[in-house]
Amino acid sequence: MKKEQIKLDVNNMLVEMVGKEHGISEETIDDFQEKTSAIHQKISEDKANGEMGFMELPKQSKKLISEIEKEVQKRKEYKNFVVIGIGGSALGNIALQTALNKPYYNIDSQKRNGKPRLFVPDNADPVRLKSLLSSLDLEKTLFNVITKSGSTAETMSQFLIAREAVAKEIGEDELSDHFIATTSKDSGYLRVIAEREDFKTFHIPDGVGGRFSVLTPVGLISAAFCGIDIRKLLEGSADMAERCSSSDLKENPAYLNGLLHYLAYNKGKTISVMMPYAHQLKDMADWYRQLWAESLGKKVNRSNKKINVGPTPIKALGATDQHSQVQLYMEGPHDKIITFIEVENYDEKVKIPEKYQDIEGVNYLGGHTLNELIKTEKKATELALTERNRLNETIILPEINEYTIGQLIYMLELQTVFTGELFDVNYFNQPGVELGKQYTYGVFGRKGYENMKKEYKEKPTHNDDWII
Ligand code: PA5
Repeated sequence: MKKEQIKLDVNNMLVEMVGKEHGISEETIDDFQEKTSAIHQKISEDKANGEMGFMELPKQSKKLISEIEKEVQKRKEYKNFVVIGIGGSALGNIALQTALNKPYYNIDSQKRNGKPRLFVPDNADPVRLKSLLSSLDLEKTLFNVITKSGSTAETMSQFLIAREAVAKEIGEDELSDHFIATTSKDSGYLRVIAEREDFKTFHIPDGVGGRFSVLTPVGLISAAFCGIDIRKLLEGSADMAERCSSSDLKENPAYLNGLLHYLAYNKGKTISVMMPYAHQLKDMADWYRQLWAESLGKKVNRSNKKINVGPTPIKALGATDQHSQVQLYMEGPHDKIITFIEVENYDEKVKIPEKYQDIEGVNYLGGHTLNELIKTEKKATELALTERNRLNETIILPEINEYTIGQLIYMLELQTVFTGELFDVNYFNQPGVELGKQYTYGVFGRKGYENMKKEYKEKPTHNDDWII
């Protein structure tokens, strides 16, 4: 594998390309260098104090990697691998699989090359889970139950249902062969259950929150089981960490991109679209959407002042969304930044056949490749947006492989943290999602949440006149 760096091209964010009204000037960027150096210092100190767990992951212990690889060797006979988790405990698994294994991996045994199929139901949807469990040969299925808190209702419910199905089909005695638990070392109920059931357990480091955990056992186990080279993934992230050890905005892609998003937000570009031109990266955009939204969408700043801040992330896919969302991006409000992801070399080259030479609306395609088509469409969309003074930028991947994806993951994580520093918010918490969870616990009768049940029951009733 070649050691190729990913690149960030931000030309189309600048005044020179999109004009003064919307663009950002080099002077403004330079004005932020001092603040950037101060943030860099703070991040380094927080890291030294053990508060930036995700920054330790690229160099994480060889022991863990060997332990995961050993488990893969030991459990070679499984044909299906099911991840039971939600949010940060699922999205990274999906993103890695889509990016790094060939499309249709699950239905093509040659592509799998002896590795198990991967399923990540990622929801408490009754139809989806029932359908999955009834489709799988449970005797040949291994489940990885992932929850950092060890108590997420969707995850624990799915676990209980899967456990019952496995026990029914295979028997209580064999249960531990079919489950791995990935959770916190010293807290949470999954840990207690795993001990009782004698499940193989992997630990999520304490200082790493769900949405920053793809490079922990959370994402690495399913990746390794499905043949993804997790060592190369970590190598890519370590090399990006090295690149991002500079406080210089013009050398550090995570900082530069974070700053440009922040400056653009303050100019009214409150929507951040990620639009890869490669189907393999569509779930990376999904993963990033959670990272960006949960980390930056906050009611208060760190002085507890109400600010209701946060860019809204949108995922899109090129060229598909040229036929869907791009009309809005071109002509709608000037409230977006589009981040394209471009791939220089796709894994395959597909030629368009020369046929129907007498039909001029079709004959121009023959002899070209799909590769040329998708790349030209990206460049054409980029040009059209820029001509309309729409802010856009491109992350360039030389190719899609473990090394480049490792770089991309680390860059986007650090970018999120840096942007959070600029917004002065706590990017590691998610108080906004807690209230909804607590109402659910109350209604379900969880001990300690009786008040939430009462509040839920007292909620204003809906007027039938307005239900039509
Ligand atoms: O990023 C986060 O912290 C969340 O999205 C969590 O990953 C999600 O709520 C699942 O939590 P847990 O892993 O505790 O089940």
